[in-house]
Amino acid sequence: MSFSIGVLVSGEGSNLQALIDDLRDSEIEIAAVASSRADARGVQRAEAAGIETRVFALADEPDRAKRDETLAGWLEERGVELVVLAGFMELLTPGFIRRYAGRIVNVHPALLPAFPGLGSIEQALEYGVKVAGVTVHFVDEGVDSGPVLLQEAFELPYHRDISVTRRHFQEVEHRLLPRAVRLIAAGRVSLDGDNPRLVRVEADG
Ligand code: GRF
Repeated sequence: MSFSIGVLVSGEGSNLQALIDDLRDSEIEIAAVASSRADARGVQRAEAAGIETRVFALADEPDRAKRDETLAGWLEERGVELVVLAGFMELLTPGFIRRYAGRIVNVHPALLPAFPGLGSIEQALEYGVKVAGVTVHFVDEGVDSGPVLLQEAFELPYHRDISVTRRHFQEVEHRLLPRAVRLIAAGRVSLDGDNPRLVRVEADG
């Protein structure tokens, strides 16, 4: 079995790094990394790992639908079967989502449907919740609204320094995202016939 994924980044790329490290000796290949920003550290991480990269900035092509069409074509040419959003800070246009329907996943630092969108860790702290978590979900045309694939909950650590709290979320993300990719690649993920919101996951343990 060989399975190709494409990863979309906009910034630091720590989730991309987790994928690179976790999938190194697997049959899953990171065939392409696309970035919405030329200065994303994720691009350097991909290059260091010998992965083909390309920048698709709206500054170069302000028509989002056209930009996304070129992006989808570039990924398809590289045989990408699953698109992984790893800190990709833009919404993909409906045309892209239709083209890769059911084959796009995203990692989000909250227990969806709580706290979708930007600043979810800040929102959780502000709200004063006791339990928080990380979600990997399929991407549809909404904001963090697609079917949930994996979630991991934990007691929200309140630190004076928010970067310590953030690190906790990231450690969980770095475990959950590669696990989700492995499950999909192994064909262990399906949508329930009666309820398309319900993602069935065959145990990987
Ligand atoms: C992650 O925390 C992810 O949940 C969010 O954006 C952040 C990206 O971090 N969508 P990185 O670029 O993977 O380091």
